[in-house]
Parts: sequence; C-alpha cells; structure tokens
Amino acid sequence: MDKIVVAGGKRLAGAVDISGAKNAALPMMAATILASGESTLLNVPHLKDVSTFSDVLRVLGARVKREGNSLIIDTSSIEHLEAPYELVRTMRASIYVLGPLLARFGQARVSLPGGCAWGPRPVNLHLKILEEMGAHVEIQHGYIMARAGKLQGALIDFDVSSVGATANAMMAASLASGNTLLRNAAREPEIEALGQMLSSMGASVSGAGSGTVEIQGAKTLRAVRERIIPDRIEAGTYMVATAMTGGKVTLRRARADHLGAVIDKMAEAGVTIRQEAGNLVVEGPTSLVPVNVTTSPYPGFPTDMQAQFMALLSLAQGTSVITETIFPDRFTHVPELRRLGVKVTLDANVAKITGVKRLSGAPVMASDLRASAALVLAALVAQGETEILRVYHIDRGYERIEEKLRGLGAEIQRVRV
Ligand code: UD1
Repeated sequence: MDKIVVAGGKRLAGAVDISGAKNAALPMMAATILASGESTLLNVPHLKDVSTFSDVLRVLGARVKREGNSLIIDTSSIEHLEAPYELVRTMRASIYVLGPLLARFGQARVSLPGGCAWGPRPVNLHLKILEEMGAHVEIQHGYIMARAGKLQGALIDFDVSSVGATANAMMAASLASGNTLLRNAAREPEIEALGQMLSSMGASVSGAGSGTVEIQGAKTLRAVRERIIPDRIEAGTYMVATAMTGGKVTLRRARADHLGAVIDKMAEAGVTIRQEAGNLVVEGPTSLVPVNVTTSPYPGFPTDMQAQFMALLSLAQGTSVITETIFPDRFTHVPELRRLGVKVTLDANVAKITGVKRLSGAPVMASDLRASAALVLAALVAQGETEILRVYHIDRGYERIEEKLRGLGAEIQRVRV
C-alpha cells in the first residue's frame, strides 16, 4: 500500500492542469448504457473511481477501452443486468447504473451500497423516483431489485436536493414515455453536463443545472462523443494549497463560473483570485483572515471542499466556524488534522478552528477522499515530515496529485510500502 511523504515549507509557484471532473465522468459513463453503441468520453481523468466504474460497466457486458484521456465505451453487448456488491461497496456511485439499466432493459439488480466512512448514506430517493416512474422496486439479499415495463414520465418533487438521485432520474426519464418534471433538482455543474449529454443522445432536456428540469423521453437514444468538464473540487484544492503556502499558481482550465462560492470565501480569507485567458490565477496572502463557512447544495459552498477549507483556516489569524449541513458527520479528518497541530473543536456538525502560527509534521492516516486531500494540504505547510498512509483514498479522486504538486515546487513523494 502506498504512502505519501511530504516535507513541508515550500511555497508553490507555476502552473497546473486541472483534470476532468470525477463527479461528471461517473454519471456520464453510466449514461452511455442508455444507447446501444460506441460512445466516446473525452478528458476523462485517470482515477481509481473511473477504473472501478469501468469495471462495473464491464461486468454488465460493455467493452471499455482507454485511449489517452478518452474512454471508449461500447454498450451494445450489455446483457448482465447486475452491479455486484464487490464493486458497489468500493464505490457508492455504482448506483448510477440503476436508472439507465432499468430504462433500457426493464430490469436491474444493484447491490445496496451500505454506509460510508462518515455515516449512513441513504439511497431512498433513488428508489422513490424509479417507483414514481412506474418501477417495482424491492430490497432482497442486500440488493436493489427493480423491474418495469416501459418507464413512465412523472412529476418528481425532491424534498432533499440530491445530486445522485437527480442524475438517476434524468437518465431514467430520457428513455421513459412522456414528460418528466423534476422539482428541487440538484443544480450542480455536473448535472448540467449530464443534461447536455442526454440532449446530444436524443432526449429533450431543459433546465438542467437549475432547480426545475424537464425531460421528454425518446424511444431510443444514440451513442455520443462528449467532453468532461474540469474538476471544480480539484481546482479548489489547488487554490487552497496555493493560499496556504503563500504561493502564486495558475490553474489551467479551471472554471470560475463553477467555483463562485469557493472563490468568494477564498477572497474573504484574503486570497487573490483572478481570471486570465481561460485560466485562474491564485495568489496567497501573507496572512489569512478567518471566515465562516456553511456547506450547502450548489451554488452554495460544496461539502467536498469542507475538509480542505479546515486545513486552510487552521492558519488564519483568529477563529473560523465551519458548519456542515449536507453530511453532518463528515469530519473524519478532524482527529488526523489535530495530529498535525490544527486547533479544532467539534460540536455536532459545527467545527470551530482557531488559527495557529505553524503546523508540525506527523504520521497520519487518510480516511476518505477529501479528508486525505486536507491532510496533504496541511502537510505542505507543516514543519518537518508528514507521512500519509492509506493514500488509495486520494487516488480515487485526484489525478497524479504528488506529480502535480511536485511540479509546483512541493517536496512530496509517493513511497511504495
Ligand atoms: C454527490 C457527490 C459527492 C458530494 C455530494 C454532495 C458524486 C459521485 N458524488 O454524492 O462527492 O459530496 O454529491 O454534493 O457526484 N440523500 C438522501 N437520500 C438519497 C440520496 C441522498 O437522503 O437517496 C441525502 C444525503 O444523505 C445528503 C444529501 O441527500 O444529505 C445530498 O446527497 P447527494 O447529493 O445525493 O450526494 P451523492 O449524489 O451521493
């Protein structure tokens, strides 16, 4: 199992390429199931989650081929309509195959994902939307078993804004008969990207990326060629790295329009961010100002940036408050950050961070994807050496993180153990 070793104290400078977005790539890979034929996705990041999802598609019978940054998916040979526990337990997003399989083949069997490192992650909304579209859904032996004749368009009112359930509903609705109207749909850029792909495939989709999405299903859909949008969370993470080290970095291809809430909070903390020729240029201040952050659905501040912001605010001059409203238990990074000298207290879903002058290197353990990013960030400024164990978590969602950071001047390496 690899570990990452960081010698802290280097100021980051230079330019870094932002990769394609993991959270856009996964639903778009699932959407290829809806049409029989060969789809090509461009700018697909090289990540563990992408290879896991490729394995899920292969188990179904699809042929998946990597060519550089492209992924070529031939779904004409799908015949096995089951996503098994062994794959789903390693990646909850496997549930994205549920809607497309049911819509195209009339049945699907997908393992229930179970909990995750920061508590229960229900899938009730995914099941509810399919039922509302006329499917019969039951749980048997740890599997979601769904069956339907032709799915029917429906009026679906989400009481909670859910990225995954919105994506599953949009995919299912694209092959359903009639109109589907989604209210309180998730508005994340990855949903907008999925909407564009479903439109290219032949469904009529309007409003994706807003709270109200309307989909007119098509009889059949066609295979397509689509580009994955840049990863806003990866970009946000490099922003924090730059800010913490007082550096200056150009984020190539980062999209400011997808990062509004993050950029606003960075600016409040004293970080300078400007757009320059399709890139974002980030410049860290000499001292950081404390800020209060509350996570909420897009366009609010993303929960996927919460852990990294805790690392950032650990150096601010004063006390900051982070309130996590999406996943109230998402704080597995707290005990590990404390080992690096971060001063943080936790009361339910509210963390209070009192800035310190410096952090100090220590061995720490990555517990989930974004938590491990926070540890790398803290390690970049900690005095001495930090060893981060269990880095497979970080490989799920950050492409070549140690190479990219090294390219910016960090002293970081991956050690095979
Ligand atoms: C996606 C992202 C994840 C991000 C999260 C919130 C992907 C692959 N993952 O996860 O990185 O942290 O959005 O931005 O894109 N909920 C229910 N019932 C359900 C489904 C969700 O109650 O059936 C609740 C969740 O517990 C949570 C809220 O809805 O409180 C939002 O979760 P959701 O948007 O569904 O997250 P994911 O799609 O799993």
